[in-house]
Amino acid sequence: MSIEGTRQAYGRRAAEYAARLGEVELLAPADRRTIETWADGVTGPILDLGCGPGQWAAHLAGRGHAVTGWDPVPAFVEATRARGVPARTGQVADLSGTPGAWGGILAWYSLIHLEPAAMPAALADLHGALKPGGQLLLGFFDISSSAEPFDHAVTRAYAWPCDVLAGMAAEAGFRIEQEERRTDPGARPHAAIHARRP
Ligand SMILES: C[S@@+](CC[C@H](N)C(=O)[O-])C[C@H]1O[C@@H](n2cnc3c(N)ncnc32)[C@H](O)[C@@H]1O
Repeated sequence: MSIEGTRQAYGRRAAEYAARLGEVELLAPADRRTIETWADGVTGPILDLGCGPGQWAAHLAGRGHAVTGWDPVPAFVEATRARGVPARTGQVADLSGTPGAWGGILAWYSLIHLEPAAMPAALADLHGALKPGGQLLLGFFDISSSAEPFDHAVTRAYAWPCDVLAGMAAEAGFRIEQEERRTDPGARPHAAIHARRP
């Protein structure tokens, strides 16, 4: 799926997405703890890449972090700004324009729509956009064998084996600090990778 296709698919359903998932209180408490703890350990500005309607960006800003949201979907950028968080249209490929800029990048379920072949370049862009010592938190759908597409509610998405994605991040130069896997009742398996630019 091209970024234009993803942009259009989310653009059509931005209001529905915001109503279902656009408040931190609607989301898994374990995710909230993971993201809060991660952000508390970041030094410097945080980019919420693929911020959607801005619920995590606003939550972290409310906890005193300097957060900016980027999303390819203009309606999500507007929703994030409406929460008082600076935001702009942007996608992972635009990170090459902010080399060494970020103390932390939260990519929470925002790389799930990339074709697997695009993932190494995306991880390299993430690495290059972080300051030395900067931290990446990736959230995504977990699967046991190899990256596989599935029928995501909005547009085609891929689930990744946590160890495969962690290996690709290491290839891009990241030090992997933590891997989390969890399956909540009625939900697809979840995984998160905490990684650092050495
Ligand atoms: C499943 S939503 C997650 C949104 C938000 N991070 C959250 O946790 O609710 C995926 C988001 O990634 C964005 N996205 C899709 N492709 C992207 C890309 N190549 N770079 C950055 N964001 C992207 C979408 O516009 C959408 O807002």
